Amino acid sequence: MNQAYDTDFARAYNLLWGDFAQNVAPRIYDFYTRQPDAERTLLDVCCGTGQLARYFLERDFTVTGVDLSEPMILHARQNTAAYRERAAFIVADAADFRIDGQVGLAVSTFDALNHLPDAAALRSCFACVHAAVKPGGMFIFDLNTRAGLWRWNSINVNDTAETTLIFRGIYDGGDRGYTRITGYIRDDDGRYSRFEETAYNVVYDLADVHALLAETGWHSSYCARAADLGAPLDDPEKEGRAFFVATR
Ligand SMILES: C[S@@+](CC[C@H](N)C(=O)[O-])C[C@H]1O[C@@H](n2cnc3c(N)ncnc32)[C@H](O)[C@@H]1O
Repeated sequence: MNQAYDTDFARAYNLLWGDFAQNVAPRIYDFYTRQPDAERTLLDVCCGTGQLARYFLERDFTVTGVDLSEPMILHARQNTAAYRERAAFIVADAADFRIDGQVGLAVSTFDALNHLPDAAALRSCFACVHAAVKPGGMFIFDLNTRAGLWRWNSINVNDTAETTLIFRGIYDGGDRGYTRITGYIRDDDGRYSRFEETAYNVVYDLADVHALLAETGWHSSYCARAADLGAPLDDPEKEGRAFFVATR
């Protein structure tokens, strides 16, 4: 079961879940552009609907987005249409892609890399991103931690005029957490389409992720919080979410 979001889930995502990327984009931008010789080129891995890409495009970056979901990529193209000449969006697997040239910064946000099926896919993704980033460039991404996934054990209902969404999360401390989403989204004619999506997150020991980064050629890496990407954390496993800052 791959984790490329389908058409109706992509519509709901575009309506409801831009906030995370919009909130972290300025933090990543501020941190990265303080680095010496920060080139204004970005690779967004699992770019989703392009909310983060748009923030960087508005600040003169050239952006390449990669996502396995064609519907998500269509929203990304629409959301960044004003910057078409500096934006390219590619439908591809994060664990098996290449881009033309190299960028200064690569990102992957909102625990997108927890969607890869196993450590081999994550390793392969790190190698692909490594090939796409210039020497001295950075890769910043976040992962849900084991502590974060325990919070998935819940049932939530989100009801608006546009959408009704029911989330059933389950995590038992093992290698994967699951969320089953049943959704109703309003169509142009006022009727509602129903959809089902099961999203999973693979859980990693964060030390293993650092090891995979090192094996794939990344020079250094540490975990931080989004609010302070320059401050390495002593015990990131205690966090619900860890941001990795890797330098090539
Ligand atoms: C939680 S969303 C994050 C989207 C975006 N980064 C954000 O911050 O809003 C996860 C995204 O990963 C994509 N995805 C899942 N598996 C993928 C894979 N193997 N390769 C590329 N994209 C994938 C999904 O289609 C979806 O757009």
